[in-house]
Amino acid sequence: FQPRLLAGRRIVMTAGPTFEAIDPVRGITNSSSGKMAYGLARACAQAGAEVILVSGPVALSVPEGCRRVNVKSALEMREAVFAALPGADVFIGVAAVADYRPATSAEHKIKKSGAELTITLTPNPDILADVAGLPNPPFCVGFAAESRNLDEYAEGKRKAKKLPLIVGNLVQDGLGGDDNEVVLFDAAGRHPLPKAPKPEVARAIVAHLAALLPKI
Ligand code: C5P
Repeated sequence: FQPRLLAGRRIVMTAGPTFEAIDPVRGITNSSSGKMAYGLARACAQAGAEVILVSGPVALSVPEGCRRVNVKSALEMREAVFAALPGADVFIGVAAVADYRPATSAEHKIKKSGAELTITLTPNPDILADVAGLPNPPFCVGFAAESRNLDEYAEGKRKAKKLPLIVGNLVQDGLGGDDNEVVLFDAAGRHPLPKAPKPEVARAIVAHLAALLPKI
């Protein structure tokens, strides 16, 4: 039994890694399978939401009931998110956005030589913080993948990015695997969820999110 907890809600979500080109054949990326985001997108759609999945490159098919917008770089992801935002009730940032991109991307393949090569990196915008900082933001949910000090870092990010809800997980528990163990942080405090397969964790996040949304 899947209650229609998110019926009538429009959700924009980011997923996967971003890929920041160095030249036409090389780039910088983050390791992200996209499994958590796609599982969450599927759970949101099953709960009755309209879901737009703005996704970096992943080897996953679009979950039933979701619309995918394919992007590569963080700048493309930001643009696609802002284009999809009008009318959205919820924004969920699950993507592992690259914090930096090469300051310039070479038009042609860089030829190797024996010399040292320096790539200058420039910071990428924080998509989630930008959305949450809008005058009338949708309900914003973040993810914090940490390798230690989960509570401190996740709650710190929730406050810094002005998020009503953040999902924290220790990367050794979740990254790339099929199970995940997460802790939800909201204004009321800390809510650990039991370790479970990602689809089950996604349904628990949906239930928590639905309870926090303003009634319609
Ligand atoms: O600061 P950190 O990258 O750990 O924050 C993680 C959260 O912020 C995730 O929800 C992620 O999708 C989002 N984020 C973003 N744009 C960035 C960096 C992170 O939307 N440039």
